[in-house]
Amino acid sequence: MKARWLSLVALTVGCGGGAEEAPTTQVEAMVVRTVDWNPAKADLGAVQAVADSGDTSYLFGGKGVTLMTGGAARAQIAGPTAWVGAAAIVGADGTGTWVVGVTEAGRVVRVRASSSLEDVGERWGIEKDVVKSVVAVDDTHVAFGVAGGFALSDGKKVTRYDGPKTGLLRGGRGKLGFVDGGKVRVVSLPAVTAVDWPLPTAIDVAIDARGILVTSSEGLFVERDGNLVQKLEGSFGPLTVAGDTTWTTTGGELVTSATTGFAKSTGAGVEGGAKFFGAPNGELWVVGTQVRRVSYGTQSAALADWQSTVQPIFAKVCSACHSPGGSAGLDLSSYAAWVRLRVQIEKQVVTDKSMPPKSAPFSDADRATVASWIARNR
Ligand code: HEC
Repeated sequence: MKARWLSLVALTVGCGGGAEEAPTTQVEAMVVRTVDWNPAKADLGAVQAVADSGDTSYLFGGKGVTLMTGGAARAQIAGPTAWVGAAAIVGADGTGTWVVGVTEAGRVVRVRASSSLEDVGERWGIEKDVVKSVVAVDDTHVAFGVAGGFALSDGKKVTRYDGPKTGLLRGGRGKLGFVDGGKVRVVSLPAVTAVDWPLPTAIDVAIDARGILVTSSEGLFVERDGNLVQKLEGSFGPLTVAGDTTWTTTGGELVTSATTGFAKSTGAGVEGGAKFFGAPNGELWVVGTQVRRVSYGTQSAALADWQSTVQPIFAKVCSACHSPGGSAGLDLSSYAAWVRLRVQIEKQVVTDKSMPPKSAPFSDADRATVASWIARNR
């Protein structure tokens, strides 16, 4: 494909900022769960980027690319060992999904049918560029961040536009966003019209189910009626869209934004400098010295889950001895007690089967319910 350069003129709109609206947004307590994505401890080398497509996770690391399906390494393809990004995008032929990685040297490499890697930059006429990022803008558009701008493919032609010096792009739902020179720019496709928000402290931008989100060193902003409205105060890091959930970080904690509202973790211990990749099911890959895949629930959802699954079993079986002041001397009547004692409960009830006593009306189904509740709340 032949590429041409176009300069992008933006309509600048004002920034509502935090002055108009105090950030009174409710933030729920987040319950972070770690997904055991690599139970067999397959050696992937130092992982630097991840992309999910279908039921397969593609981990780009020091051993090349490893394909994980159902918790097992299905294939490992030797190749480049240093990566800056990865994504599942529409193929250069306009059909199907290609999973590509971007190497540290700026090459775009496609994972072919779980057996080989192919340098595909030429397919978009970007083989001479040092590519910094690749994003799936929608089902037909792909954007590549290159020096001083981006190359946008609509499946038929590739057009170049001026863009962020960093080459770091965000995209989705037919829009492309980036932070550059003290402003946030959002480009809408297919017309390729740009809107700018001046926000000198901006860190990152995301286009998610709620619209446009911006993080800055002063807060988390959401676009509303052409203005950026501050929703949360604080200093936030990068934004990552995963399905209908958008993740960000502040002070080592995880923050999610979903249609149901905001939630924030306590004690997530996210490493500074970690990189983030979203999975289509809403889960987040946290790539630091270790690779964690996390999902989240809110405290209220976790309580509702306990009330509907475990509490009836407590009432029927355990309450005879484990009520407050009961004969066992151990109060298990609350959600908090079950969370605090989940390791002991798993050992006694699931592993050793020494609890409840044989005489109690406790079925195999009850045991399975307790086991799966513990698995959900590790
Ligand atoms: C008939 C009375 C009785 C019932 C019913 C009963 N327990 Fe117990 N449980 C005890 C007694 C007594 C102890 C303390 C002595 C021991 O460890 O055997 C105990 C101890 C425990 C412990 C060990 C705590 C620790 O320090 O490690 C756990 C966990 C536990 N029970 C969970 C349960 C659960 C969950 C249920 C319901 C599914 C249940 N128990 C039902 C009497 C009961």
